[in-house]
Order: sequence, then structure tokens, then C-alpha cells
Amino acid sequence: MEQKIKSIEEKVNSFLIESKDDLEQYRLQYISKKGIVASLFEDLKGVAVEQKKAMGKSLNDLKRLAEEKFKTAQEGLESKVASTANDLDLSLPIIPNKTGSQHPLNLTRYRIIEIFERLGFNVEDGPEIEDDWHNFTALNFPENHPAREMQDTFFIEKNPDMLLRTHTSNVQIRLMKDRKPPFRAIMPGRVYRNEAISARAHCFFHQVEGLYVDKNVGFSDLKQTLFHFAKEMFGKETKIRLRPSFFPFTEPSAEIDISCLICHGKGCNVCKYSGWVEIAGSGMVHPNVLKNCDIDPEEYTGFAFGMGIERITMLRYSINDLRLFSENDVRFLKQFKPVV
Ligand code: DAH
Repeated sequence: MEQKIKSIEEKVNSFLIESKDDLEQYRLQYISKKGIVASLFEDLKGVAVEQKKAMGKSLNDLKRLAEEKFKTAQEGLESKVASTANDLDLSLPIIPNKTGSQHPLNLTRYRIIEIFERLGFNVEDGPEIEDDWHNFTALNFPENHPAREMQDTFFIEKNPDMLLRTHTSNVQIRLMKDRKPPFRAIMPGRVYRNEAISARAHCFFHQVEGLYVDKNVGFSDLKQTLFHFAKEMFGKETKIRLRPSFFPFTEPSAEIDISCLICHGKGCNVCKYSGWVEIAGSGMVHPNVLKNCDIDPEEYTGFAFGMGIERITMLRYSINDLRLFSENDVRFLKQFKPVV
């Protein structure tokens, strides 16, 4: 018995407790009611009376040793957990979220889409590399007409019929050619012009085209649609003004101005002291354009408009330099709504 107690004592001393699992193993083996120490107490019953006292003492010493080891190991493990938790200082600022921000041009595009979708407009798309017919001829730009001159662009040397589209109006043609009326669609996208880069012009920018063709579509529909858009986009007090204009693909044509958001019509340098800011070109779809797309202008009429996304974004966020949109400067970009 003496021998047995000694060897168990050694085992208890050398048992490594490094985890909660180890601790449980140890408890089951040595401390629990069915453990080794308990069974030794059972054995004690059979020991001769004269040895019982000494054996009992050794056994009690072993029991104490085993229990103390258990307690120390248990406390050690608990303080380890607590100290890891203590390293977590919840009062520290959070680690910055580096997922980036949404580009202001996208924020504006999403908002435009949202407004027109509620009016029943679909979103359509078309190619940026376009042929002359879809970009100019079908839109009633006669060959050698000065209106082409105003939209100089980048041509493809190997095939002079191909160019980078100057406006999103090409998508009107593709839509009307491919499908049957009625049409109610907006067409956002990138466009190109041969322009020197400055705070107010760039060789590429973005537009949203709008097209509504059906039976009995009138000029009043155009006015009301764009008035509604202006109020949704820029606020309830916004007024609109239509100025007669010229586009080969619309007749009559009008520029749409909104009351200046900065000075509310009093005059400032944003509106060049006129109280009004131009946001879109528009008009009733020219009968020739409908005919070019095999639509009978006696049966169908429609309106169209085109607006610059950069222009609207600049007004919305008071941005004064167009180049900021494409310079990828994080100091500028991070000011907008984070990606979620
Ligand atoms: N395509 C024209 C431009 O880029 C904008 C425009 C004006 C589009 C009138 C239209 C429209 O659809 O009806 O200058």
C-alpha cells in the first residue's frame, strides 16, 4: 500500500494540466468519487490495524496534494482566460473599416435611377464603341452638319466608321430599332469628347439619357417628368425653366435649367449671376428619328432628354472641379458614403 501511495503521488506531481480538458481528465482520474485516491481509501479498510494510522495519514496527505494541485491548476486556467479578456480594451477606437466609399458619380446615378424607376422607367445599356450611324446619322445629324462639329470625339483609325460615342443618345436608337414601342427607359453610361481637360471639361464623362415613346405623349409630359425629377433630386422648392434650343434629334428642343441651389435665384458665381443652372437637354423625338427606327411618327410620339451625371453631382455636393472625379484621390473619395 505504502508503495502504491508513493507511485500515485509521483503521477499526481507529474500530471501536466495545460487546458480545461487536461483538468477534467485529472479530476476524473484522481479527485472524483470513482478516482484512484477514493479507491485507495476503500483499500484502507483491509489494512492491518497497526498500520492503519500511518497509512491513513499518508493517504490523507496524498488526497490533500491531489486536491491542491487541482485547485491551483483550475485557478491558473481561469486567470489565463481572464487576462486574455483583459487585453480587449473596449474603450479603444475601432479599427478603421477599409472597405472604401461609393464613388459620388455612382451615388448620383443610383439616385437618378431610383427616381425614374418609380415613374416606370427601365434601365437600358448600350455600347461605348459605336458606329457613325447610331451615334449621328440615325439621330438626324446630316453628314457635314455643324452639329457634328460640336461633338468631336475619338475615331478608330483602322475603321473610320467606328468612334467612342459622344452621348448616350445612341442607346435610344438601339432600343427603338431592337424592340417595339412603347418605350419608357433611362440609359446611364460613359461618353467621350475630344476636349482639353480642365475644371469644367474632360475627354470622358457620364450621361443619363431618357426616352418615353408611346401614343399621345406630349410636351407637357416632358415638362412634368423633368419638374418631378428636379424636385426629387434637389428638393421640393426647386423650380425649373425651359429655354428653346437646338438638337438634330428633337423638335422642338429645350434646355432644362433649375433654380440655383446655392443662392436660390439671387445670383452667385455658380449660376454666373443668372439664378439658373442648366442640367439637361431635351425635346420631342424628331419624326425622322422615329422613321429611322421603323416607327410611324403618325402613330407614336415621344420625348427624350439627356443630362450630365458630373454636372448634377457637382451641384449636389458643391464640387467645383471635374477632374476630382477621375484622379482617384482618397482624400476626396473617402468623404462619400462608405460601401456596406
Ligand atoms: N445628346 C445630347 C448631348 O449630349 C443631350 C440630349 C439633348 C439628349 C436632348 C437628348 C435630348 O435625348 O432630347 O448634348
